[in-house]
Amino acid sequence: MLPKWRFRPAVFAADAANPELALAPWAGHRQFLYDYVRNIRPGSFLELGVYHGCAFFACCQAARDEGLDWMRLTAVDNWLGNDNDGYYGEDVYETFLAVARTCYSGLAIHPVRKPFAEAVSEVAPASIELLHIDGCHTYDAVAADYAAYLPKLAEEGVVLLHDVFTERHGSTRFWRELSAGHPTLLFEHCFGLGLVFPKGDRLYHHLLQLGLPQLAPWYARIGHLEMALAAARRDAIPSPQPIETPAAPQDETRVAKATEQAARSREQAANWWQTAMECQWRLDCLDSPPCSKA
Ligand SMILES: C[S@@+](CC[C@H](N)C(=O)[O-])C[C@H]1O[C@@H](n2cnc3c(N)ncnc32)[C@H](O)[C@@H]1O
Repeated sequence: MLPKWRFRPAVFAADAANPELALAPWAGHRQFLYDYVRNIRPGSFLELGVYHGCAFFACCQAARDEGLDWMRLTAVDNWLGNDNDGYYGEDVYETFLAVARTCYSGLAIHPVRKPFAEAVSEVAPASIELLHIDGCHTYDAVAADYAAYLPKLAEEGVVLLHDVFTERHGSTRFWRELSAGHPTLLFEHCFGLGLVFPKGDRLYHHLLQLGLPQLAPWYARIGHLEMALAAARRDAIPSPQPIETPAAPQDETRVAKATEQAARSREQAANWWQTAMECQWRLDCLDSPPCSKA
């Protein structure tokens, strides 16, 4: 009998060290990646395009919580940016290293600060069990990254591709073409995360039997909720602006300002209420996740 797909609510320790991680466009997929690593226990993960490390540290968290100290975690990025998406500062790489050191010491983390095309020669053939491609999202760039790293994928290995359910990027077209020739699974939320099985379909059928496609709407809901909570936390940082009380009732501008401010506070309270209800919904879900019924 197959083991059940187990859902384990994640606590991402790295978020305390870098709050940007919870706000990244990738953040809505973290719970799935976390569960994937804990359920499937791949021996190696390589990510092309790491930036702050939203996906990468989700994988590290799963490795840590599952006791996968032997899992090889390779992070490839130039940590500079590119012409297509723009460039960023040295602080991003420094913060990445600091988070890896402080939150995930003891794991086999290997940062490779090189262009993807140069880093490829450092990776042994057929050595990667889980490959995540999330660099530049033009059609040509994703196609080149996929072609260059496919020989590095192990038999029965899985490739994850981000930004494959948005018309903004050529990566969606590349995904459609891949899907025509290989078994795939797709999470449509948060710009789309695809799983492709180009070197054997054993794991694909295993995931189907575990009911993963039926869990996609549930992961989408959790993903959106995590992102909403992260944004609410960010907005809850005390604002330095003092609330103004009208000094004199005849000062109409001040009265209007105070009224406007009160309306905003009411709106904020309503948002917090909504968030609280969502939290309650989540707790209910955790009590009886749909996968426990599989
Ligand atoms: C979309 S971000 C990655 C987001 C990340 N996966 C996450 O979980 O938030 C893309 C990153 O890929 C890097 N990148 C893009 N093309 C690259 C290339 N050819 N070589 C090295 N790094 C590249 C950029 O510098 C950037 O840091």
